[in-house]
Amino acid sequence: MKDLEGKVAVVTGAASGIGRATALLLAGQGMRLAIADIDAAGLGVVAGEIEATGGRVLAVPTDVGSAAAIDALRDATLEAYGAVHVVHNNAGVVASGPVEEVSLDLWRWVLDVDLWSVIHGVRAFLPLLRAQGDGHIVNTASVAGLQAFAGIAPYNVAKAGVVAVSETLRLELQGSGVGVSVLCPGPVATQIVHSERNLPTGVAASVGSTADGFRERAATNLATTGLDPMDVAGMVLEAIIEDRFWILTHAEWYDQVEARAKAMRPEGP
Ligand code: NAI
Repeated sequence: MKDLEGKVAVVTGAASGIGRATALLLAGQGMRLAIADIDAAGLGVVAGEIEATGGRVLAVPTDVGSAAAIDALRDATLEAYGAVHVVHNNAGVVASGPVEEVSLDLWRWVLDVDLWSVIHGVRAFLPLLRAQGDGHIVNTASVAGLQAFAGIAPYNVAKAGVVAVSETLRLELQGSGVGVSVLCPGPVATQIVHSERNLPTGVAASVGSTADGFRERAATNLATTGLDPMDVAGMVLEAIIEDRFWILTHAEWYDQVEARAKAMRPEGP
């Protein structure tokens, strides 16, 4: 999509981190924004930031794990703007702990927010984009969707699923005028390690959040070495404009993915 001015973008997980940065950047390109998040207060702050720069924004508190809530987000966006062009399925959470100790509730929570959200987003919005023959979907996966990490099994599974859905879309959308990108960030300085602030009522925190110091180590690591979310938003913008599928934020991952493929050969890497 070369021309973004006046078009409409929907961004989920927009109250914080990568989603907030993308929403601000797209608004700066003259796009009209619909922003969604389960954190209604944080969403209001970001809406205020967009309005302060003269942007148009609709804030829709949304639980992305709910198909009905995503349908309602689509309907509210259409009512406000009459069209949708860019959809960034971005909201996400992480929970940690040894795979055999992760509760079924935590599995469901992470898969709902990280994978089903993308499925709901595609089902709700793609028919509109296809019909108008103009649009772009960006799905936020992770490098964890390219190679699994120890201690975060549900996240690995969800993100591999997001990569798979996105690759399927790439094949199915050829010639449709609708583009797709999959964002696979390495470390970015956001609030993701504090995901459990959004745990549904009644779901116990992950075993790894306190016991093994996972969260503390990850928080320090992201804060000190993570990319600025605005840099990631810049990569997303470029991918939309240039219609690029893969968005890997950290160049060392090209080698990492190659090494993984080589290790599949019977003779080894
Ligand atoms: P963040 O925690 O700063 O932002 C995530 C946003 O998602 C928050 O505003 C949160 O309220 C929202 N959210 C959580 N549950 C929700 C729900 N049920 N419904 C709607 N919104 C919900 O984290 P960050 O890093 O900006 O996360 C954005 C995406 O980037 C996620 O999909 C994450 O998995 C992905 N990512 C992040 C990396 C990092 O190092 N920060 C690395 C790889 C991927």
